[in-house]
Amino acid sequence: SQPPQKLYEGKAKILYTTDDPLVLLSHFKDDATAFNAQKRGRIEGKGTINCRISAALFELLEANGVPTHFIDCPEAGQMRVRAVAIVPIEVVVRNIAAGSLCRQTGIPAGTVIPDPLVEYYYKNDDLGDPLLTRDRLFLMNLATPQQLDRMHSLALQINRVLQEFFTRCNITLVDFKLEFGCDRRDGSLLLADEISPDTCRLWDSDRADPQARILDKDRFRHDLGNIEAAYEQVQARVLAQFAGP
Ligand code: C5P
Repeated sequence: SQPPQKLYEGKAKILYTTDDPLVLLSHFKDDATAFNAQKRGRIEGKGTINCRISAALFELLEANGVPTHFIDCPEAGQMRVRAVAIVPIEVVVRNIAAGSLCRQTGIPAGTVIPDPLVEYYYKNDDLGDPLLTRDRLFLMNLATPQQLDRMHSLALQINRVLQEFFTRCNITLVDFKLEFGCDRRDGSLLLADEISPDTCRLWDSDRADPQARILDKDRFRHDLGNIEAAYEQVQARVLAQFAGP
């Protein structure tokens, strides 16, 4: 058997090889970055929390017909995943206007988006993850029309499942980012990366105060404090949905 090798280190995770070339081990880090890594810090306990939340949401999505790279969690903060070739597109789904949508369009923050918006960003730090159009994305050969249609319909399906789930947690799913990859086994598209308070905007439905209700990485981005408590709150509410009666 081969010793595990570091395959890739990203901003929030390290990927290791395993004995099986079709399986990788993802180690979730406590490191936090924002604004294209111009802001850096640590959120204590974030790695294990994001790993647990992601695992629970991937299992939920699999049960609802969404194929994911998730296999299991051998240890806290570690996830075994299927090896994929990542599609370098960040797919963002928005239910409520926030963040870059407001900055770029002037739409007031908090505006409800009746037909969820699906957007594509180029996953490229040097270029600052620019917003893409469908035609630009094809020009750049980032995906085929079939792959893009599949990512679009999966993104909306994921949004329906997650919105319904987070509503039961008393959490409003404002927006989130997805990454997809092509399965090394057969080339089929799998949901990859993570789904966590790092990659979603999540508002506590029990609170009206626009700062107090934030349960996601915006607390880190905008120095709102109580980051760990917010992530723990999301974890507790998500896991409570899977606990027995
Ligand atoms: O910044 P923006 O408003 O475009 O972000 C939309 C959603 O995508 C947010 O939930 C944010 O956390 C997520 N996102 C991400 N990784 C990025 C960019 C955005 O997880 N590189």
